[in-house]
Amino acid sequence: MTTYSVAVIGTGPDPANPTVQGFAMGYRHAEAFEADDRCEVVGCADVAPENAAAFAEEFDLPDGAVYRDYETMLRELDPDVASVAVPPAIHRDVVVGCAHSGVPDAIHCEKPMATTLPDAKAMVRECRSSGVQLTFNRQRRFGRPFTEAKRLVDEGKIGSLRRVEIGWGDFYDLGAHTVDLAGMFNGDRSAEWVLAALDYRTEDRRFGSHQENQMWAQWRYDNGVYGVLSSGEGSDFCDAAFLLRGTGGTVRIDADDGPMLELERDGEREAVNVDGEGLHRTGSETDRFGSSFQDRSAAEVIDGLEEDREPITSGRIGLNTAEILFAGYESVRRHGRVDLPADIEGNPLEAMVESGALSPAPANDG
Ligand SMILES: NC(=O)c1ccc[n+]([C@@H]2O[C@H](COP(=O)([O-])OP(=O)(O)OC[C@H]3O[C@@H](n4cnc5c(N)ncnc54)[C@H](O)[C@@H]3O)[C@@H](O)[C@H]2O)c1
Repeated sequence: MTTYSVAVIGTGPDPANPTVQGFAMGYRHAEAFEADDRCEVVGCADVAPENAAAFAEEFDLPDGAVYRDYETMLRELDPDVASVAVPPAIHRDVVVGCAHSGVPDAIHCEKPMATTLPDAKAMVRECRSSGVQLTFNRQRRFGRPFTEAKRLVDEGKIGSLRRVEIGWGDFYDLGAHTVDLAGMFNGDRSAEWVLAALDYRTEDRRFGSHQENQMWAQWRYDNGVYGVLSSGEGSDFCDAAFLLRGTGGTVRIDADDGPMLELERDGEREAVNVDGEGLHRTGSETDRFGSSFQDRSAAEVIDGLEEDREPITSGRIGLNTAEILFAGYESVRRHGRVDLPADIEGNPLEAMVESGALSPAPANDG
């Protein structure tokens, strides 16, 4: 059996206290790869030496395998997989740097892909031209509530899928998961257009980026299926995390008044077994850092290499979601529908805050 060496870039400060300012995803990546007996974590790099040192102690790495500079680490350790868990604003620099180093066969990076659409596209382009497999950690694709929902749709249990409604989370940060899942339910099609409005009255920053307080976004995929996301004050719009509406029924994921997954047809609702798994986790964790679902996401990286196939978490598929997210913000900036594909410069939400078009009041953290 081949053993794949994995090097983690961006360890994070404190895995015991994850917040939207710092989640220490590097620990979850390492734990997820170590759960696969085909993998071994061989080193780490972090610009904060104290973070790298604590991580090295936790994962029993030798002194020589701990770096401040990831490019030196790649040259010296020659890992098969670079696992990237740095903040979103530098995903592009680090991912493209890894691809151009000629070292790893695979790069597994955290979501959201990037803070701009051109950066997201550049990562996919550069990895493709360097022959490197690129995935993003959209681990919920492997959770039973979502895989079972997809099975129900694929088996025609709700007739033809017409609309995916999302009433959970936000548009950009958690949206990197929820909009991705909407795409998965619909066969990973791309969107034709996006129309959106948002409210941003109180400052909220997650992983270094602004995050609106409420979003209304509608998009249409190229097969005519609609996506709708209503967040914040309007998140009870669909009284569930997801509603998948078809011509012959509805799949409900985490409805307010029901079990985790339900199939509704002819006015009757029946629960669907998801083995106790939830929106975030399996529910029977024995791991130290809560890497559940991410074990499966890491295994998909290795399966993609071994089977020489595109992982379902690929960068190419991820671009469908990135287009919807940035087109949603661009729609707000343009006061109109954004037809895709579109050239969207910079980060429209950040730009609207910088220009004063949006002026959230400082958050009262106290
Ligand atoms: N998949 C999920 O469910 C999930 C959950 C939380 C966060 N995330 C994502 O994980 C990513 C990382 O977020 P986090 O909160 O874990 O970050 P963090 O702040 O906890 O850790 C990032 C680490 O990267 C280091 N770093 C910064 N620049 C670097 C560089 N050039 N080279 C090496 N190290 C560098 C920092 O010193 C820090 O230790 C983000 O994209 C975030 O959105 C994903």
